[in-house]
Amino acid sequence: MLDSSRGQVGKHGVASAASEVSDKRLSAADYLPAELTLESLRTAASKCEGCDLYVRATQTVFGSGPAPAALMFIGEAPGEKEDDAGQPFVGPAGKLLDDAFTAAGINRNEVYLTNTVKHFKWEPVGKRRLHAKPNSREISACQPWLLAEIQTVAPKLIVCLGATAAQSLLGHKFRITRQRGQLLALPNGQQVLSTWHPSSILRTPDADARQRMQEELFLDLRAAATFARE
Ligand code: URA
Ligand code: SF4
Repeated sequence: MLDSSRGQVGKHGVASAASEVSDKRLSAADYLPAELTLESLRTAASKCEGCDLYVRATQTVFGSGPAPAALMFIGEAPGEKEDDAGQPFVGPAGKLLDDAFTAAGINRNEVYLTNTVKHFKWEPVGKRRLHAKPNSREISACQPWLLAEIQTVAPKLIVCLGATAAQSLLGHKFRITRQRGQLLALPNGQQVLSTWHPSSILRTPDADARQRMQEELFLDLRAAATFARE
């Protein structure tokens, strides 16, 4: 939910090579700067050790784009390409997102792009680093960055890409299958619309289903662009 409560470190910690560093670092709140600007946030986030994910990632992938911005897009977590580049949505999911922006008449340089968690979470599979889903503790540990970005960017509309972003802001009862495309409001009045995550579209094996999801993504972004212009 949308609050700034700290993530709790469970007594079993996180089942990863990083578990030995977990206990004294509770959340990104410990790293927030006094002054909220994108620059000060980015600098502070680059040193964040608010959960264990920083240990195995190359760098913090903070949001990118201007503040203020009418539209803010929130993904799940950086992938391998983003981890290498230090920028959100520069890999395959970013390519599909770019196509959706083009179809919706959205200029990528005018919107703010970020993720629910700012470090790449992965598991080794052979020589590859395979994306792993952030858990609820990591999501709440990282939420102070996301809330500070929302405050600084002051978007007219937040677009959640996928259930992880939507559940972080709207709560765990949110279901992307039922509520995608709906305009919802947070308790503070902030407008939020959720749609398919581009990666979940790319992972869908059935071609017809994939096509339908892509059309829905494009449709939702067109609606978002219209809302942001009004
Ligand atoms: N998937 C995400 O959720 N975010 C990115 O930045 C890239 C892929
Ligand atoms: Fe900090 Fe978020 Fe990275 Fe965890 S994922 S270390 S809370 S920036």
